[in-house]
Amino acid sequence: GKSAKDAGKLRAAYAAVDRHVKDKQVIGIGSGSTIVFAVDRLAERVREENLTVQCVPTSFQAIQLIRQHNLPLSDLSATPKIDVAIDGADEMTPDLACIKGGGGCLVQEKIVAYNSDTFVLIADGSKESDALGTKWTRGVPIEVIPMAYVPIQKQLEGMGATAKLRMATSKAGPCVTDNGNFIIDAHFGALQGDSLAPAALEKTLCMIPGVVDCGLFVGMAKEAFIGREDGTVMHYT
Ligand code: A5P
Repeated sequence: GKSAKDAGKLRAAYAAVDRHVKDKQVIGIGSGSTIVFAVDRLAERVREENLTVQCVPTSFQAIQLIRQHNLPLSDLSATPKIDVAIDGADEMTPDLACIKGGGGCLVQEKIVAYNSDTFVLIADGSKESDALGTKWTRGVPIEVIPMAYVPIQKQLEGMGATAKLRMATSKAGPCVTDNGNFIIDAHFGALQGDSLAPAALEKTLCMIPGVVDCGLFVGMAKEAFIGREDGTVMHYT
């Protein structure tokens, strides 16, 4: 159920913040619903332990979260080296590859993750999977330059995917990202085999002109904390 999932998110988020956050660090703040619990815990620790940290956001949502919690807001120009970045995932495998971008913030998330010493995933147990694309069946989110979305969509269909332009939910028309782009959700089925293996597919997608980035994060996360429904936190390293 939903509250069991939230409990798992909270436990994973707290475990990650408690294990990784230290005084004087620059911390990457992810996007989505799970990161909210991590920022709660981070703010609590900053208050109680009088920590000095800098927070680098991955989205407007993260900027708002950081501000609401009165945490110091930084960016990649002021603090280009991030000690630890913490973020959620839509689906992840035991090798710590994942699909992200369900919430539409994958481009800045990947930049922050790439520029961090340690990238840590936090999620509830429903995100654990044996093969990407089997649990998260809404497709791989792909951020595209608006004028290119139709040819990209056709190319993805040519690759055998179902490719849908993501539509906004509280306004008419397409969902516009924090960077002013569109998102195509491309469902390929299970990401297995030579051309569909996550690392190969990530490269192929990112080579298409007009694609800014895709929600496949491969070889980036060093650790994951997964809050399972039985109350345990699985720590992948
Ligand atoms: C945001 O675009 C995403 O990459 C999120 O990190 C991902 O969707 C996980 O979100 P939840 O924590 O809400 O599951």
